[in-house]
Amino acid sequence: MANTAGLLTQQSFGLETKVIPRSLANFINLAVSFTDQSDDQVPTVDYSLLFSDDKNERAKSLDHLGKACQEFGFFYLINGVEESVVEAALKGVSDFFELTNQEERSEYSKKNSRDRIRWGLRSHAGENREYLKVVAHPEYHCPTKPAHFRDAIGEYFKGMHEVELGLAKAISRILGHEETYIEKELKLKAGFDVCAMNLYPPSFQSKGSIGVPDHTDPGFFVSLIQDVNGGLQVLSHKGNWVTVSIPRNAIFINLGDHMEILSNGKYKSHIHQVVLDNNRVKRISMATLHGPSLDTFVAPLPGFVDESCPPAYRGMTYKQSLELNGSDEIDVQSSLSQLR
Ligand code: SIN
Ligand code: FE2
Repeated sequence: MANTAGLLTQQSFGLETKVIPRSLANFINLAVSFTDQSDDQVPTVDYSLLFSDDKNERAKSLDHLGKACQEFGFFYLINGVEESVVEAALKGVSDFFELTNQEERSEYSKKNSRDRIRWGLRSHAGENREYLKVVAHPEYHCPTKPAHFRDAIGEYFKGMHEVELGLAKAISRILGHEETYIEKELKLKAGFDVCAMNLYPPSFQSKGSIGVPDHTDPGFFVSLIQDVNGGLQVLSHKGNWVTVSIPRNAIFINLGDHMEILSNGKYKSHIHQVVLDNNRVKRISMATLHGPSLDTFVAPLPGFVDESCPPAYRGMTYKQSLELNGSDEIDVQSSLSQLR
């Protein structure tokens, strides 16, 4: 077992823990206007409209996605994965933390760097969470208990992989390339996806206890779902911490470092952090990093490089960049500064 002192176990969250159902908690921020530039509100992108048969509607929504990527670097995506699939995945994660005991969970604590399932407790160095990380793609790994867990999160990964390929198509078009450009460049069909399922304890302290310190994520983008709003904050292009309050039916998308590299800085990977600020409510999140295949050499694409705009990032394989911080593939933590 990893750490036995001062553990943030499920039990230690205590009787005062309350749970707000996601369906009641998530109902805000369904629209955003780009006309109000003083507004930091997270844009909402309708996935289905990106592929509309109506040419005008399609063009309008691609334009909207382009602005969301360039001005914000993050957005809420609606009509991507069915709500029932999202709900079942979150229930599966909740059941994993609730229905297994710590001995069963600690079976997955780090044994060697090739482990495709990893469980841990962090209650030090500014971090407060219990997590389970699994490789979601190209192969899929999952603990065997509870029985329905594997299918529930597997369905979500399947849906999100389709969405990943769809967003790659849409963004390729926006950037003036053929539809399959990003998919081929990043070899997304063999893309390396890792999911971190997190259980954050409720905070009984004054505001500002940290769940995960500020960082950016590697990869093409991260998709995030959560059972209650509050906790995740993103640093906006205007320098404000914006709380991610995911609307009903939506998934939060945050562009990753390798999208920033690929676009030579046109699309930024944004710093984010998790605070324990949930008014005594525990929180579950599922953050999936969607990446290129491990052997993909990621460097600024020729279309974004010229004499006035030289390459701003070092090129290297995705595997090398994941290992830069001395961590192995599944412990993906990132420091974009090392890639510059
Ligand atoms: C992370 O970005 O590492 C976790 C995000 C979250 O749990 O909200
Ligand atoms: Fe992150």
